[in-house]
Amino acid sequence: MEGRVFQLENLVTISILMACFISSNALPFWDTFEIIWAPDHFKTSPDGQIWDVTLDHITGSGFRTKQSYRYGWFSMKIKLAGGDSAGVATTFYLCSDKDAGPHRDEIDFEFLGNRTGQPYSIQTNVFKNGGGGREMRHNLWFDPTQDFHSYSFLWNNHQIVFFVDKYPIRVFKNVFRRNRFFPNKKPMYLFSSIWNAEAWATRGGLDKINWNSAPFVSSYKDFQADGCQWYNPSPACAHTTTQKWWDQYNAWHLSQTQKNDFLWVQKNYVTYDYCKDRQRYPRIPTECLLNPLK
Ligand SMILES: *[C@@H]1O[C@H](CO)[C@@H](O)[C@H](O)[C@H]1NC(C)=O
Repeated sequence: MEGRVFQLENLVTISILMACFISSNALPFWDTFEIIWAPDHFKTSPDGQIWDVTLDHITGSGFRTKQSYRYGWFSMKIKLAGGDSAGVATTFYLCSDKDAGPHRDEIDFEFLGNRTGQPYSIQTNVFKNGGGGREMRHNLWFDPTQDFHSYSFLWNNHQIVFFVDKYPIRVFKNVFRRNRFFPNKKPMYLFSSIWNAEAWATRGGLDKINWNSAPFVSSYKDFQADGCQWYNPSPACAHTTTQKWWDQYNAWHLSQTQKNDFLWVQKNYVTYDYCKDRQRYPRIPTECLLNPLK
């Protein structure tokens, strides 16, 4: 009898230790984020680790970091709403404004759903001072509705890289004429949301959302923000001499392995690139002349 009690106590201690260990690795939702839109269409799993946003015929939903950041590595694992999801957009993006302000900077992942069995598109875009129009679209080499995959931004003085798992799918050189395209002058928040994009996302708005398949739920977890906070900067950010890994030489351009991965994605999965769209841009946009591999 005593032995059993002892074992049980040990078990409880071990579980508590494990719980501490797990929670120290993942940022707790309510410490990190706030709901910005339709709290009744948001929920966390019972253990708090998975964060669901829902779109139905009434509304979508979204959340945002409380902190804003300059430079760093920002990553989220996402499992996208499945089934007949044409017209549904799931997002993960950096934005300098709390609302869609006219002078905002923005760096976007947008995941565009499709009819059952048709592939999702992942659209990336870059806005400077409210001006976007720098879309790329990729297909993915896996079904993003089956499992969580990580989607990440690397942002430093030299480049902005969009990663899907370990693969760099897009490199945006952080130079524009002689200036940084995105100097660390505007703090950026991280946003996540699901919304109704049927007006434009699918073949220019031809495919409407099938509300019989609603609700559409996309799930998020394991957010990482290894960057400099705008307010209360960590010591490493206060001193420019102590650079973090994401602002050191090796993060200023892709490694050889990353270059190979990038070229493989470029060759097989790009479905649209504004840099190559001469109908839309008869003159090549300046930033398109920069070599992403240099
Ligand atoms: C949906 O799938 C079709 C067929 O593969 C494709 O042409 C289209 O671009 C996809 N739409 C989106 C929004 O991904």
